[in-house]
Amino acid sequence: MQTSESKAPVALITGAGIGIGAATARAFAEAGYRVAVTDVLDAEGTAVARALETENGIAEFFHLDVADTGQVDEVVRSVGNLWQPPEVIVANAGIARRVPFEELADDVWDRLLDVDLKGVMRVFRSAAPAMRERRRGSLIALSSIMGVSYGWSEHAHYSAAKAGVVGLVRALAVELASDNVRVNGIAPGYVRTAQSLSRENSLGPEGLEAAASFIPLGRVGSPEEIAPVAVFLASDDARYITGQVLLVDGGLTVGRY
Ligand SMILES: NC(=O)c1ccc[n+]([C@@H]2O[C@H](COP(=O)([O-])OP(=O)(O)OC[C@H]3O[C@@H](n4cnc5c(N)ncnc54)[C@H](O)[C@@H]3O)[C@@H](O)[C@H]2O)c1
Repeated sequence: MQTSESKAPVALITGAGIGIGAATARAFAEAGYRVAVTDVLDAEGTAVARALETENGIAEFFHLDVADTGQVDEVVRSVGNLWQPPEVIVANAGIARRVPFEELADDVWDRLLDVDLKGVMRVFRSAAPAMRERRRGSLIALSSIMGVSYGWSEHAHYSAAKAGVVGLVRALAVELASDNVRVNGIAPGYVRTAQSLSRENSLGPEGLEAAASFIPLGRVGSPEEIAPVAVFLASDDARYITGQVLLVDGGLTVGRY
């Protein structure tokens, strides 16, 4: 563990053990942030933090289940004690589940919204007061093209959660703006990760392959093509952007007629 005296800003990323979250942790470390890598996947999250440290970054892993309010508050507090309160949150943790509508039981719906929507709110709620006090902060949430532009069959709860993220971003952007805390979202298209490669819950490898043919840029995205967008949204270059959800989809939503 490095308890640096540096004044480098602190970014906390949820679901940062693999996929878009891991790439985002790396991008923030490369941009000079101290990075709190958080996940329910302890081995993966620890490996990400260690790798960043090996590359002269400052990173620490924290076990964090975004569905647990106590854990969220405790981890945000611990990060503040270790370094300083996070000035950037990337609420990336998410799950996708394929469930036909007639099988969409209350507990299945509740669980997905608890992670994908309430999980975002919990982390934002915990981090916002220190941001407001310091009059500096950037809250970034992962939505999806499925919450912004498309409907996704057998994913009603996922689509509803990701659309809910858009509403959360807009409302908080207005509420927190007077304290210079900006709130934005990213809506990825198809990105090659464990989630999208899952045949059970998403497109699977063949589905991703097929998707490439109707994406104007001609290919599925990589986590490394989403991560820098989060760094940009957190940066001073984006200081006049709040309440927006940026589509990062290779032209998919504007190019499919
Ligand atoms: N891959 C895509 O094509 C795509 C498209 C649009 C949106 N997204 C969104 O981007 C985000 C990242 O997706 P990904 O593709 O990298 O997925 P992934 O499955 O590769 O990674 C998701 C991460 O979230 C973590 N996670 C799951 N439940 C958690 C919980 N309760 N608490 C904390 N962490 C938890 C997982 O452990 C994992 O590290 C998700 O919100 C996802 O819905 C992905």
